[in-house]
Amino acid sequence: MGEKVLVTGGAGFIGSALCEHLGGLGYEIHVLDNLSFGRRHLAPVPDERFHKVDIRDSAEVMRVFSEVRPMWTLHLAAIHFIPYCNANPVEATEINILGTINVLDACMACGTCERVFVASTAAVYPIADGAMDEEHNSGPMDIYGVTKLATEKLASEFHLRSGINTIVGRFFNAFGPNETNPHLIPEIQQQLLSGARTLKLGNLDPKRDFIHTQDMSRAIEALLTKVEVGYDTFNIGRGIEYSVREIVEAFERQLGEGITIEVDPSRVRKVERMHLLANVDKLKQATGWEPRWGIDEGVATLLKERIEL
Ligand SMILES: NC(=O)c1ccc[n+]([C@@H]2O[C@H](COP(=O)([O-])OP(=O)(O)OC[C@H]3O[C@@H](n4cnc5c(N)ncnc54)[C@H](O)[C@@H]3O)[C@@H](O)[C@H]2O)c1
Repeated sequence: MGEKVLVTGGAGFIGSALCEHLGGLGYEIHVLDNLSFGRRHLAPVPDERFHKVDIRDSAEVMRVFSEVRPMWTLHLAAIHFIPYCNANPVEATEINILGTINVLDACMACGTCERVFVASTAAVYPIADGAMDEEHNSGPMDIYGVTKLATEKLASEFHLRSGINTIVGRFFNAFGPNETNPHLIPEIQQQLLSGARTLKLGNLDPKRDFIHTQDMSRAIEALLTKVEVGYDTFNIGRGIEYSVREIVEAFERQLGEGITIEVDPSRVRKVERMHLLANVDKLKQATGWEPRWGIDEGVATLLKERIEL
């Protein structure tokens, strides 16, 4: 067995892809997840390496870390779906901030952790038109972004306190198999696979930087193995943005059928960012990483996988 890696949130959408990737490279993966949004079968680990624990429970988090004694900790557990965070701001704050404190304290106390990766988000950036690099000022627009900016500050403070190498990854919009939250792409997918060819969607013009979860996993691995840092922050995106309309067109190409869009006013957000685009030069220069998945290949796989189920 390889070196031990503890992944919080490893039963979730991105965490499960990351566990699959690192497990395939020979690391001994352990998952800590309370299965609130994740699913047990997505975490590719045997029962003895799956720890059903809530990160708000500091004693249980400490127990798992002292038993596993990981070399790396990858902290992805969080409440992430923005409408859910807006409806449950106290819960989101407790999990994303207090939970992060518990995980970082356990990383320090277990005595074996050499590297920590903390998942942040593009939602820490303000509304802006061009590609944003890591030096761009922050300006979260919602409670989720506020909690993640706090997560970043806690990670920085943790590094100063512990001396443990710590990397923050600001994820842009992930896509790929096994989505756990009703984001745009799974929403389109579900409507199409239920037979609809007229989609009910919100605002069609906002553009997002979609990155496949396998490309994200390779980027995280590259950051952990190639970057010699004390503390640093990296955007993890693809550097290309697509509007909602363009995503629907990618589905049209893969289905070989026309799709009509009806704007559903209940889905239109009151305040919307029109752009959310990553400058990923820093990630590429530090690691040599390049994305491999385009939108069309990703959409093709999603349609095939779901249809075959
Ligand atoms: N999906 C995206 O596009 C995206 C974009 C930016 C940032 N992120 C960040 O990436 C990380 C993973 O997101 P995801 O899309 O895989 O979401 P997800 O909801 O699928 O994964 C989060 C996981 O954390 C677990 N979790 C939640 N609360 C917990 C708690 N109290 N204790 C233990 N486990 C708990 C859930 O059960 C789930 O398995 C999150 O930190 C999220 O903020 C995701």
